[in-house]
Amino acid sequence: RECACAPCVSRLAAPRDSAHLLLARACARISTSSTSSSASTAPPSTAMDAPPREVCPAPRRPQSLGAKYQRALETNPLVTKTVTAFILSGISSLIGQLLRTKGRVTPDVVRTAIFYGLSSAPPYSHFWYPILNSISQNPVVRTIVDQIFWRPLLIAYMYVVMNLIKGKSWKQIGEIMRRDYWQKGVKAGLKIWPAAQLINQWFIPLTFRTTSMDIVSFFWDMYLTLATSSDDSEGLTLETLEAELEDLVREKNCGPILIRLSWHDAGVYSTGQLTGGCPNAAMRFVEGDGEGTFGANAGLPTVAMSLLRPIAAKYVESGFISNADLWTLAANVAIRVMGGPVVPTRFGRRDAQSFKESVESQVGRLPDGDKGVDHLREIFHPKGFTDKDIVSLSGAHTVGGCHVDRSGFDGAWTEERSKFDNSYFKNMLSKTYEEETTAAGCPQFRDAASGTVMLYSDLSLLEDPIFQEHVKRYAEDQDTFFADFTAAWVKLQENGCCRLRENL
Ligand code: HEM
Repeated sequence: RECACAPCVSRLAAPRDSAHLLLARACARISTSSTSSSASTAPPSTAMDAPPREVCPAPRRPQSLGAKYQRALETNPLVTKTVTAFILSGISSLIGQLLRTKGRVTPDVVRTAIFYGLSSAPPYSHFWYPILNSISQNPVVRTIVDQIFWRPLLIAYMYVVMNLIKGKSWKQIGEIMRRDYWQKGVKAGLKIWPAAQLINQWFIPLTFRTTSMDIVSFFWDMYLTLATSSDDSEGLTLETLEAELEDLVREKNCGPILIRLSWHDAGVYSTGQLTGGCPNAAMRFVEGDGEGTFGANAGLPTVAMSLLRPIAAKYVESGFISNADLWTLAANVAIRVMGGPVVPTRFGRRDAQSFKESVESQVGRLPDGDKGVDHLREIFHPKGFTDKDIVSLSGAHTVGGCHVDRSGFDGAWTEERSKFDNSYFKNMLSKTYEEETTAAGCPQFRDAASGTVMLYSDLSLLEDPIFQEHVKRYAEDQDTFFADFTAAWVKLQENGCCRLRENL
């Protein structure tokens, strides 16, 4: 028995192998009717064994990916377009960032790609393109309307979202937009969007228009990721910033006050009876109750911030870094330049926008130099620090000194005030200190032989057995001091911060 259907007939030309026989038998079982149009192509049969004309079911071809996607677009357009945009944008952001980080995958890179995908996912054009269609049947008119009203909005939206993801403040975003939106966003976009949209409107059916533009966006987003995240074109990089800070510390010999700036910015944090406070550069505000008015911060807004002003003008005003991050980084560069440990810096601190974001006062948040052990514990324990941390952090007094016109105290703790080492602890254990009163009426201690000083708070570290034990450890081993100091210092600089990232 032979099957009369077209596929089988064509196969008859081939040798009758067992596979064909099996197929023919299957066909015979399936069909009983001979009314098929294939009958005209069937070979003549004899009266004796004329089987009913048989027809194979149409062979089932596997659906191509394109066909499946088309079906999804037709049956579930919103979900399909959302998922498409998420995947394409996420991947393009990932590639853009990897190009920038030279292939280094960090959690931040992945997070940014996911957020970017999410922000691009809403298929706004799914609603916009039908509106365009209702405005005009002419693709040229639709393209012009799109380019004038829709595209600039979309570019602005992406700039804002991408920079929010990167933790920029609204003020910084405003600065970035002023600098880049027209030149890198709209003007650069004119090179591709009008042409891409014209082709889209002219040749692509409405169902596919969102997806086709998503594909163009895939490349455009990659460009935008590079353009908005690399301020390289302006010549600003983390490397140039660090180099300029290094020069500043060396030329002005101002490392110690930069460390104190970062310490007092971050040191207001507390989780005790007082809560909140984080490194947010609220010391910039010397009006109202701004942190710049606190007595404990004397000298920081005037001296430290003035020293940083030229660098801030370049890097902060361009939106490259926040003031709070700059102060953090400046301190860490200073520590390294003066011979101290290499402290890792993470970024993403938000700047206070007005004096209202200051903490209420320094009281209970920043320590006094004329108080002892209990006071130190009261101040530092609610910040999450241990006794060991208090001692290692105090070791920063190995650099710099007291200025009678700022704190009322007077003199340096060590002979080499620009060298970050463990001599603060060595001095404490080896020198003989006599109490004295400074010209401003503040009590302190001085070693007559070397002229170096200690505050009450410093020498109190020898009164308590736990504190004293750490003083001895650090005096004996500088590496231990550096390791403990780095851990406590990073914690201090990051207290109260959320969503910090490795890169700028
Ligand atoms: C433990 C409690 C602390 C007290 C009571 C205290 C007190 C003081 C005082 C009164 C000054 C003199 C400021 C001036 O007249 O210019 C000073 C300077 C300084 N403090 Fe502290 N401080 C403490 C903790 C810290 C911590 C935790 C750090 C950093 C980790 C630090 C880093 C510095 C530096 C580097 C200077 C020198 C600033 C300069 O030379 O301009 N201090 N401190």
